[in-house]
Amino acid sequence: MTDADIAEVDAILMAAHLVQSSYAKILARNFHLTPDCWWVLEQDGHTVGVVGATDFGPFAHIGLMAIHPSQQSGGVGSILLQHALDELERRGLDSITLYSTDAGLGFYPRHGFVWQGISTEWQLRKRKAHSRHYRISATKDIARIVAVDREVFGGNRSALLAALDGEVPGRTLIAEDARGAIQGFVVAQPKVLGPFMALSKQAAADLLDAALDLEFDGEPRVALPDAHADAESLMAGAGFVPVRTSRYFVRGKAPVQRRDLMYGQAAYSLG
Ligand SMILES: CC(C)(COP(=O)(O)OP(=O)(O)OC[C@H]1O[C@@H](n2cnc3c(N)ncnc32)[C@H](O)[C@@H]1OP(=O)(O)O)[C@@H](O)C(=O)NCCC(=O)NCCS
Repeated sequence: MTDADIAEVDAILMAAHLVQSSYAKILARNFHLTPDCWWVLEQDGHTVGVVGATDFGPFAHIGLMAIHPSQQSGGVGSILLQHALDELERRGLDSITLYSTDAGLGFYPRHGFVWQGISTEWQLRKRKAHSRHYRISATKDIARIVAVDREVFGGNRSALLAALDGEVPGRTLIAEDARGAIQGFVVAQPKVLGPFMALSKQAAADLLDAALDLEFDGEPRVALPDAHADAESLMAGAGFVPVRTSRYFVRGKAPVQRRDLMYGQAAYSLG
C-alpha cells in the first residue's frame, strides 16, 4: 500500500463495514505508523482489498482488514491475509493479535488465529458522581508514559502516543500518586477514551472521571480490551452502558500483557 491508495482503500472499508463516515484520517495515521506492514490486493487494475498491521515490537496488531463486498467469499480475503501473515513472519513477527467483527469468526481461525475472549464497547449514558483519589493532569511527556505502558501493553506504543498527542493536544491525562509515580493514563480522543491503562481500579476510575470533564464529539465510548470484572464494573458504575462486542484473536505466541490493567483500546484497529 502507498499514500496513493488511501482514497480507494477508504471506499472499500466504508463499503465492507457498511458505514457512511470516512476512515481516511485513521487509515492514514495507522498506515504511517508502520507503512511497510500494509498491503492492498488488486484485480484487473482495481484495488479490491486491504489489510494492515501495526508493529509494536514483540507483536503486531492487524487492523482494518476488508474486501470489497462484490468480491467477498471468493477466497481473495484468504489470499491477502496469508500474504500479510507471511510478510509479518519474514519480519520476525510470530505473535499477531486482532479484534474481529462477527464476519471474522469463521474466517480468522482458518488462518491460525485462536479466539481468546470478548471485548465490549461501552458508551456514556449518564455520568455519575465520583470522588478522586489521585492527582490527574494533562501531560506531553510521552516517554514517561511509555515506560509504564510497556509493562502493561507488552509493546512499544511511543509512535502511536506521539501521533495521538499531535492529533488531540492536551488530552493525554496521567494519574499520579502522592510521590509523583504514574498510576495510569488515558488519551481522550474526540469520540473514544483510549489507550487507557491503570495500575488500580481507583486510578482507572479517577482517569475516567477526569476525562469526562473534557468536551467530546457525541457521548464518549470505551472499548475494553477484555471483559474483565474490574473494567466492566467500573464502566457500569461510571454511567456507561455496553453497546457492542468484538472478538479478540491471537496467532502464534500470546503477547506478554497485563490485560487486567488495560481499560481502553486506542481503536479496534490498534488494540
Ligand atoms: C471478513 C472478510 C475480510 C473475509 O474476506 P473474504 O474474501 O470474504 O474471505 P474468503 O473468501 O477467503 O473467506 C470467506 C469466509 O469469511 C467468512 N465470512 C465472510 N463474510 C462473512 C459474513 N458476512 N458473515 C460471516 N462470515 C463471513 C466466512 O467464514 C467465509 O467462509 P464461507 O464463505 O465458507 O462461509 C470480508 O468478508 C470482509 O471484508 N467483510 C466485511 C468487513 C469485516 O468484517 N472485516 C473483517 C473483520 S475485522
